Amino acid sequence: MKLAITGASGQLGSYLLDELMKDNEVVGVDIRPTEHEAHRNLVHRADVRTPWTMTSWLKDVDVVVHCAAQVSVVNSILDPLGDLDTNVRGTLCMLQACKEMGVGRLVYISSAAVYGNPVRVPLDESHPKRPMSFYGSSKASAEDYVRVFSDTKGLDYMIVRPFNFFSKRADPTNPYSGVITKFVQMALAGKPITIEGDGEQTRDFLHATDVSAMVCKAAFSSVKNETLNCCSGKGTSINELAKAVLRASPNQVDILHVAPRLGDIRHSVGDVSKARKLLDFEPKMSLDQGVASMF
Ligand SMILES: NC(=O)c1ccc[n+]([C@@H]2O[C@H](COP(=O)([O-])OP(=O)(O)OC[C@H]3O[C@@H](n4cnc5c(N)ncnc54)[C@H](O)[C@@H]3O)[C@@H](O)[C@H]2O)c1
Repeated sequence: MKLAITGASGQLGSYLLDELMKDNEVVGVDIRPTEHEAHRNLVHRADVRTPWTMTSWLKDVDVVVHCAAQVSVVNSILDPLGDLDTNVRGTLCMLQACKEMGVGRLVYISSAAVYGNPVRVPLDESHPKRPMSFYGSSKASAEDYVRVFSDTKGLDYMIVRPFNFFSKRADPTNPYSGVITKFVQMALAGKPITIEGDGEQTRDFLHATDVSAMVCKAAFSSVKNETLNCCSGKGTSINELAKAVLRASPNQVDILHVAPRLGDIRHSVGDVSKARKLLDFEPKMSLDQGVASMF
């Protein structure tokens, strides 16, 4: 089997390469170079918004895993056109390049951001889509392009909607990095862990290696044209998360509560039962193990 990964220099893309290169032929593309020595010869500089470049990397490819994206919610608000260009037009360009090169299947990495403020938890895949940011809108729109492209032009797909995932490979210098990366950075710097609001808001956290494992299952499965949550199914409050970080941290720091973030979602927990049923997916890493791996 030959697979192509877009966004291969990113957090999820790099774990996918680690996993897939063991038993498959694999090629990665990204607009920035990889930081991983083992991936140097596998990752090529290419922009998903240029289908004429992409086709040259899709020769004899059976499955494309499309991870490349503008990933920042804040940037999507500051530059909605740029977000749309990468996340929607970039996805359509990939779909067209796949069709032209006879790729059989595309796994699209979407996001739980498509749901917006939950009207019920846990969020199952039939929950209404009401994104609260342009990032969520562009991911939701790209999902529609994937589905309509498949219906009209014939290309098998799987849509995977990860909830909050984390790992040591997330960019710690990015001011918009996830809450676990931020808390770990605060603890390592000997600064108080700062929680916005009362900390009782819940999130569904998954280590990036578990996301990668599920995406690999989606790539190889005989199941097709399905949309699946990728989550633990467990809600963790931000207060519990801060305690987990302190359990693993070499530095013991204070926990500080500051004003709540405007428009913050109160509870976001996914329902993992569809992925469990269709892909036999079970996350392997507990939150404590995942947090410990960050130090
Ligand atoms: N990190 C999370 O918690 C999370 C949650 C839900 C969904 N997702 C989705 O998962 C996917 C991977 O996220 P990640 O955390 O690994 O992000 P990341 O930023 O580490 O990786 C994304 C990669 O895409 C590349 N890229 C951006 N624009 C490109 C372009 N035009 N052409 C080629 N490459 C381009 C970037 O250079 C980067 O290496 C994204 O689609 C993201 O929307 C992430």
